Amino acid sequence: MKQLTSEQLRTMYLDFFAKKGHAVISGASLIPENDPTVLFTTAGMHPLVPYLLGAKHPMGTRLTDVQKCVRTGDIDEVGDNSHCTFFEMLGNWSLGDYFKKEAIEWSWEFLTSPDYLGLDPEHLAVSVFAGDENAPRDTESFEHWRRMGLPEERIFFLPKENNWWGPAGITGPCGPDTEMFLITDKEPCGPDCSPACDCGRYLEIWNDVFMQYNKQADGSFVPLEQKNVDTGMGLDRTIAVLQGAPCVYESDVFAPIIASIERLSGHTYAEGGEVQRAIRIIADHIRCATFIMGDDKGMAPSNVDQGYVLRRLIRRAVRFGMQIQMPEHALEEVAKAVIEKYKDAYPELVRNQNFVLTELNKEEAKFAKTLKQGTKEFEKLVRQLDGKTQQIDGAQAFHLYDTFGFPIELTCEMAAEQGLTVDEKGFEQCFAEHKKKSQAGSTQRFKGGLADTTEASAQLHTATHLLLASLRKLLGDDIFQRGSNITAERLRFDFNFGRKVTREELDQIETMVNDAIRRDLEVQCEEMTVDEARDAGALGIFNDKYGDRVKVYTIGDVSKEICGGPHAHRTGELGRFKIKKEESSSSGVRRIKAVLIHE
Ligand code: ALA
Repeated sequence: MKQLTSEQLRTMYLDFFAKKGHAVISGASLIPENDPTVLFTTAGMHPLVPYLLGAKHPMGTRLTDVQKCVRTGDIDEVGDNSHCTFFEMLGNWSLGDYFKKEAIEWSWEFLTSPDYLGLDPEHLAVSVFAGDENAPRDTESFEHWRRMGLPEERIFFLPKENNWWGPAGITGPCGPDTEMFLITDKEPCGPDCSPACDCGRYLEIWNDVFMQYNKQADGSFVPLEQKNVDTGMGLDRTIAVLQGAPCVYESDVFAPIIASIERLSGHTYAEGGEVQRAIRIIADHIRCATFIMGDDKGMAPSNVDQGYVLRRLIRRAVRFGMQIQMPEHALEEVAKAVIEKYKDAYPELVRNQNFVLTELNKEEAKFAKTLKQGTKEFEKLVRQLDGKTQQIDGAQAFHLYDTFGFPIELTCEMAAEQGLTVDEKGFEQCFAEHKKKSQAGSTQRFKGGLADTTEASAQLHTATHLLLASLRKLLGDDIFQRGSNITAERLRFDFNFGRKVTREELDQIETMVNDAIRRDLEVQCEEMTVDEARDAGALGIFNDKYGDRVKVYTIGDVSKEICGGPHAHRTGELGRFKIKKEESSSSGVRRIKAVLIHE
């Protein structure tokens, strides 16, 4: 195994593929061009989508690069051994040129040859696609790996969940993949231990995707005329493996960044526990924020889209900084350490250094000013609860938001650290009331949202449940209701989501709701205890605000929610569902207005 630095690994990878006839291209911006379906570039293939779909690339049919990427879906996991919000992906592409044979041979050569990474072949395992209704079992890749000398027992056939990649958005190029794993010293977790079980024995380091299909908006997979290869090797992970580091934070990449945090805080990473977690979170978040602000597109913190992600990253870093006694304005020094470490590979960071530091300081100052007071207020609140209840109520959470600029996510996080919950629904109600007070009286609203029993509002209630179910199905089941208001004309629905929902996504959601309407599903209502509702998988906010018994509305196989009603009897009564507007409601909360059209 080679001892390499991260700088050497980047160069070695690009040189290797240049020798195999690949043009070395520069990575793209972190902010996708012409792609409203995602906020950030999330993989090396992402900026290359038009070429994977057949457009001619000016540099030819074999390309290689290092691409900076951001994925914030797992932001709450940051601080463990492997999750980061920013990462670099080393990649090589065939645009209708070579396919499985060469991709696998070259991956194997790069991983095992003493001239390159020199990993012990005995410590490598791979997975290949097991096949399903969309694509056949990938016996071809299996045979190529066998030819490389990998024994059958280290080639795992896995389903789509594990061995399929893409598309980056909702539609686009995708296909089966073969993934490469380093086998660690961890014992197998059981007789069925495999790269699919996440027990830590198998560490993924590279993924070769064989892009043969174009996924359509209707969910079907149409074969691509041009067969492509898209590969991605995570630089942080691979370098950690090569340096024998037990986790991504302990390679040369993070060393100077963590050293700067240690210097500023007076704490050491080696202290472990919560201090170590805080140091990791600050290192990750400031690295990511530095790259977002340091991109030539110049993103600044704000309340929407990329700016909101940035704001969350910086505010979390400030808070964890306070936990380990970092002085004010210290984050600037951490950002400088990031820029220094990456300046050769990413000269834009140096170009945009002033912007990065200015915006970071501005945001830090803005937040730090109120955070201290807010934290005191929060602690006072916790003392007042005095073990009598385990919940911060909506008005209290709203006070923290309104007076101290605490995003609701932050209040929830701080509450969770104390073993408390937050009445998020109550927060939204306060939020809505506050908004109402500050607007000229709008007379159409029904008090409490659920008082009207006309047919129209019953139908809109049912449509609201179908809407939530569709949002969760399309955009992720971490979406929950944050507010709902129904007039006789329209529904208005607020939900947590960190970016704009694209027009294509709204179209798909409309289609999903209208499909459920067309199926004329029965809307059933049952009374049960809160525990029974929870066990039945009903959506709802489980706190003592509900009485002993609650109503659970079930709409066919689509939705199950706790709700006061009233509802339509069957979805067929609803007419045609149409989304009129999608907009931001507050930080991290989106709002949809929709109507039912009876033609
Ligand atoms: N696009 C593939 C991935 O991100 C290589 O894993």
